[in-house]
Amino acid sequence: MKITVVGGGYVGLVSGACFAHLGHEVLIVEKLKEKLELLKEGKSPIYEPGLDELLEEGIKGKRLHFTDSLKEAADFSEVLFICVGTPSLADGSPDLSQVDQVVRDVARRMNSYKVFVEKSTVPVNTHKRIEGVVRRYLKDKSLEFDVVSNPEFLKEGAAVDDFLNPDRIVVGVSSQRAKEIMEEIYRPLVEKGAPLFITDPASAEIIKHAANAFLATKISFINMVSDLCEATGANVDAVADGLGFDKRIGRAFLNAGIGWGGSCFPKDLKAFVKIAEEFAVDFSLLKEVERINERRIELLMKKLKDALWTLRSKRIALWGLSFKPNTDDIREAPSIKVVQRLLKEGATVSAYDPKATDNFRRLFVEGEDLRYAKDKYEALKDAEALLILTEWQEFKEADLTKVKELMEVPIIVDGRNIYDPDEVKAMGFEYYSIGR
Ligand SMILES: NC(=O)c1ccc[n+]([C@@H]2O[C@H](COP(=O)([O-])OP(=O)(O)OC[C@H]3O[C@@H](n4cnc5c(N)ncnc54)[C@H](O)[C@@H]3O)[C@@H](O)[C@H]2O)c1
Repeated sequence: MKITVVGGGYVGLVSGACFAHLGHEVLIVEKLKEKLELLKEGKSPIYEPGLDELLEEGIKGKRLHFTDSLKEAADFSEVLFICVGTPSLADGSPDLSQVDQVVRDVARRMNSYKVFVEKSTVPVNTHKRIEGVVRRYLKDKSLEFDVVSNPEFLKEGAAVDDFLNPDRIVVGVSSQRAKEIMEEIYRPLVEKGAPLFITDPASAEIIKHAANAFLATKISFINMVSDLCEATGANVDAVADGLGFDKRIGRAFLNAGIGWGGSCFPKDLKAFVKIAEEFAVDFSLLKEVERINERRIELLMKKLKDALWTLRSKRIALWGLSFKPNTDDIREAPSIKVVQRLLKEGATVSAYDPKATDNFRRLFVEGEDLRYAKDKYEALKDAEALLILTEWQEFKEADLTKVKELMEVPIIVDGRNIYDPDEVKAMGFEYYSIGR
């Protein structure tokens, strides 16, 4: 089937490349020139395991095309997946102007039946807004169209795998015609065993926000438990394991640490609270989940300061800038606040990340007080403490003997609990982690 994907970012690019891999013919529309140029050369503007291979396969097989023309996009296929950004506005509600613009532009140009698929994360009842916009801008009012909610649940860092092996595919739809089209698109995954959950559009929209809000709640919950563990001498890893055996709870998202970040949880939580407020539903539970998360950075800084006494003119090595491993995404990453705090307090920072350094450089220019190291060991030279902010595999596998030799003072403040405390202490490190 022919599919148009509007927005060539983390979701659009992965979805488009995966749809092409499943045998569909896909046109990805991307408005940013520099991204589009890269894509046309078959290069991915983002780091995501497995994506380069799928891009190459799709382009070579002539099933994956790129354009910046929405006119071309509107003519290309019956189905348009909207995968543009929905960032937070100052009041916490999502900025839906990118979605609105795409819908208007396509509605003005359409001359046959279309299915508008919301893949961007949007508040409940956005499908009604989209319907209204299409009706308003449609030139030929007799044309038919459908709006479908098909939220995306991929995790950055494992996006391709998540897309091709989803826990479930959620489709919120109100017409038989659109339902059959969505079934046809996802047939290759359903035949491999992926559950296709068909529901109404409003429920599908809420499922996405509720899923992210629930996962963020799980992390904030274990972080509070970890504070109690730390105060009482219990070990949060053991507690999480013990909880995780319970099938009703599960072990995933019970890793204590410096909290969640990224392009989704922070904004989706705010958006969910906001939409609840609009409907006079008090979801203050989620405000507390957010507050707990914000306090995690303070906790980390306190541990570092307790260890070093003051931070002024201290050399701090920092491992991990991306908000989680296997991605170059630094949106709302804890590293941003940590680096701001370290620089403000007069420390000098030597930072390393396997993939996210280039993105971080755009936020923090390299200078006397902040250097970007080429590898994890270079970052450690003469450091007076190592701060671990992201649990990349290569940090877990680091040669700790070498780490100790390179540092002036062997202090590790581990915000992600990647080492066994007994082992690193036995090697002569002063080691601080979370809830253990
Ligand atoms: N990143 C994730 O892990 C993830 C997971 C699930 C859902 N989502 C949701 O998916 C949506 C997209 O997220 P993302 O991380 O892919 O964002 P992104 O910023 O990486 O990508 C969005 C892309 O859309 C392009 N764009 C915007 N307007 C356009 C237009 N009119 N025409 C063509 N291109 C246009 C932008 O240039 C950008 O490249 C958001 O609503 C997000 O909440 C994201």
